[in-house]
Amino acid sequence: MPSQPAIVLPPAPAGHALTIRLTAATQAKPLLRALAALDLGDDLAVGFGWPFVQALSAKIEGLRAFPVYTTPEGPLPATQADVWVYVRATDPGTALAELLSLTRQLPGGLDFVEDQPVFTYAGGRDLTGYEDGTENPKADAALAAAFVADGPLAGSSFVAAQRWVHDLVRFAGMPGPEQDATIGRARKDNAELTEAPPSAHVKRTAQESYDPPAFMLRRSMPYGTAKEQGLYFVAYGADLDRFERVMRRMCGEEDGTVDALFRFSRPVTGGYYWCPAVADGKLDLRPMLPTGVDGLPDVEVPAS
Ligand code: HEM
Repeated sequence: MPSQPAIVLPPAPAGHALTIRLTAATQAKPLLRALAALDLGDDLAVGFGWPFVQALSAKIEGLRAFPVYTTPEGPLPATQADVWVYVRATDPGTALAELLSLTRQLPGGLDFVEDQPVFTYAGGRDLTGYEDGTENPKADAALAAAFVADGPLAGSSFVAAQRWVHDLVRFAGMPGPEQDATIGRARKDNAELTEAPPSAHVKRTAQESYDPPAFMLRRSMPYGTAKEQGLYFVAYGADLDRFERVMRRMCGEEDGTVDALFRFSRPVTGGYYWCPAVADGKLDLRPMLPTGVDGLPDVEVPAS
């Protein structure tokens, strides 16, 4: 079953993340009709949140609302929305043009909650200067990590999306060796530190250290303005459990050791979405609606 191509492709130079919530003015069916009509090229990934699937009286095995993760300093935000869109583009102007061409096809009255331009920095680095994505599984292993292999959801994927806000001033104030120990890699050559502390990010998240291994395909991209900067974290997986296990360990829920990332960064949003496979260039909605979108009763789309 073909999958959404934008999931497999590496981050483009620019992009845009959008989360959408239904409002009293616009209900699930008109939005689904519009999304079902979209031509999915290489540059658009679309996912549905649990509230949206529930509003359609449907069920996707394994999809649930983003939970509340807890660090010793308190709970992290869960901002589950109905629909998630991730645009890839050659440059920021094209990203916006692609986004607008998409939103113009949607019914009016929707709430665009997160509306976040993103970009590739310094050839694929986080704004701290560390390479991001090094240990992503490659080729067939990437497909195995990101997509459901068989059964009714074959070819589809689950995604965790989370906007992290960095305190880059604080990070810059750390001595170089402490910065490297925070990530667990050397910024100058990306080599993994042999003596990294257990709190180092790559120690907390080492995919093979989980049972079963927690392989995921990360497609995170930086964002920023003078006021606020960080990483728009995106991880695709054949299920959400792998993200959940890694996140719980990062938060210290497993052994009390909190990921050193929290010393300079915090998530401010978080959502889980199911990204359907593709049939004839469009979202394959059969696992959600066995009768297809045509089986939906006509609903009038309110004017914006
Ligand atoms: C501020 C947010 C984050 C930043 C700046 C960040 C940055 C990095 C960097 C620089 C690496 C090392 C290079 C690489 O293999 O990609 C890395 C690895 C990794 N990160 Fe993150 N990350 C963030 C959040 C997360 C979150 C929320 C998760 C999942 C819950 C995660 C999962 C992973 C995984 C699985 C690896 C590879 C570990 C391995 O197998 O070696 N990261 N991250």
